[in-house]
Amino acid sequence: MNNSRIDFLREAAPYIHKHRGKIFVIAFAGEVIENEKFSQLIKDIAILSALGTQIVLVHGARPQVDRHLQALDHDIQVVDDMRVTDSVTLQTAKEAIGALRVEIENQLSHALSMPPVVNESLGVLSGNFITAQPLGIHNGTDFQHTGTVRKINAKLIKQLTAAGSIVLLSSLGFSPSGEAFNLRYEDVASFAAKSLQADKLIFIHADAATPTLDIDLQQLDSFIEANPEQSRLLNHIKAAMNDGVERVHLVSTETKDGLLLEIYTRDGIGTMFNASQYENIRQAKIEDVSGIIDVIEPLELKGALIKRSREQLELEIDKFSVIERDGKIIACAALYLIANTNMGELACLAVHPDYKGGERGDRLLKRISQEAMNRKLSQLLVLTTQSIDWFKERGFEPGEVEDLPDQKKALYNFQRKSKILLKELLIKT
Ligand SMILES: CC(C)(COP(=O)(O)OP(=O)(O)OC[C@H]1O[C@@H](n2cnc3c(N)ncnc32)[C@H](O)[C@@H]1OP(=O)(O)O)[C@@H](O)C(=O)NCCC(=O)NCCS
Repeated sequence: MNNSRIDFLREAAPYIHKHRGKIFVIAFAGEVIENEKFSQLIKDIAILSALGTQIVLVHGARPQVDRHLQALDHDIQVVDDMRVTDSVTLQTAKEAIGALRVEIENQLSHALSMPPVVNESLGVLSGNFITAQPLGIHNGTDFQHTGTVRKINAKLIKQLTAAGSIVLLSSLGFSPSGEAFNLRYEDVASFAAKSLQADKLIFIHADAATPTLDIDLQQLDSFIEANPEQSRLLNHIKAAMNDGVERVHLVSTETKDGLLLEIYTRDGIGTMFNASQYENIRQAKIEDVSGIIDVIEPLELKGALIKRSREQLELEIDKFSVIERDGKIIACAALYLIANTNMGELACLAVHPDYKGGERGDRLLKRISQEAMNRKLSQLLVLTTQSIDWFKERGFEPGEVEDLPDQKKALYNFQRKSKILLKELLIKT
């Protein structure tokens, strides 16, 4: 086994531990089922399950239903991004969804019984977990058998996933009076994630990948504007976040091994949406200087950070990123470019002691790494006295004074004896 595989195992180990017993809702569009990479995706989902993550799958069926309707020469009616489900469309949806369900169950059962999984206690279950209600009449359009989710049997689903089963939900629901309704799979997924208090909601799509980024609720509108081809799904994600789903991930089938890389690597590979209503990570502004001082001063006094004057912070504010919570700065980090090198220095990474333990250091490290990669830098340097292991656990390797570029060597403070740590960055081509 070569080193990169061992490194992957080291990087993945804490995440395997962290995700064990957590509920993930993984939703994929009907297009994904038709994608040539679908069977690999199913195998990766089986691995996630075998590693102890509790999984609820939600599948779409839009292209399949459309194709059936076209074959019948029946009108496809969509109003305000919502299908109007007449009785022919409902019957078609039942048939298409039934066939897809069997196909997914078949592939998943096979994957769960084959190496490297081979776990007979795992299985896939689908059933009547969703109570639906009619969408009704809106602006004069009667949506007929199109419904919305009213309730999901979270208790039963939790019992099943806790016992190791994968639960498969489709975009059909039934009213208490026994009427069937056609639902949007995105709504089923969001509702399930919320009712189950899922740790993650992951949407898999078959379009081009969106950037590897961490997006806050506050940044979501500009992200939707910048990615118009994904606006439909992104608007669903926005609604889910506004509705209380904390973490949403977006992964493309176009990204090789995307699901496992997103879940088990520190930097991830897809786009992650963080729905804290109160916090946002952003570029620092001159008005943030006092807030940054409040965060870093106690750490300067402890010797964890070198002293920076207010004037210096004002001059260098454009190098800083901050996390703001309810108008207060609670964490910061800076990226310094080192002239004539492809190395950047991560400095002044600090989380206010009241807010430690919430992966904010990780979020800032990810943001600074991303910024460095955008600037085509290939190495990140950090000088630290008291957070050595924190960085080592995040892929930094010890370096020597000789590894520093000349201008940094000249400034190296031998009295402070900071540890020199370096991390290679993946350059995107
Ligand atoms: C490094 C730092 C930013 C991490 O803050 P954070 O994201 O809130 O970290 P958390 O509290 O969530 O800790 C995450 C994990 O790292 C560990 N950890 C936290 N600080 C650590 C440190 N200084 N050294 C080693 N491990 C540390 C925690 O124990 C925790 O481990 P666990 O997941 O096994 O429980 C924060 O400790 C800090 O502000 N340090 C002082 C400033 C500093 O030294 N900066 C680096 C120089 S630029």
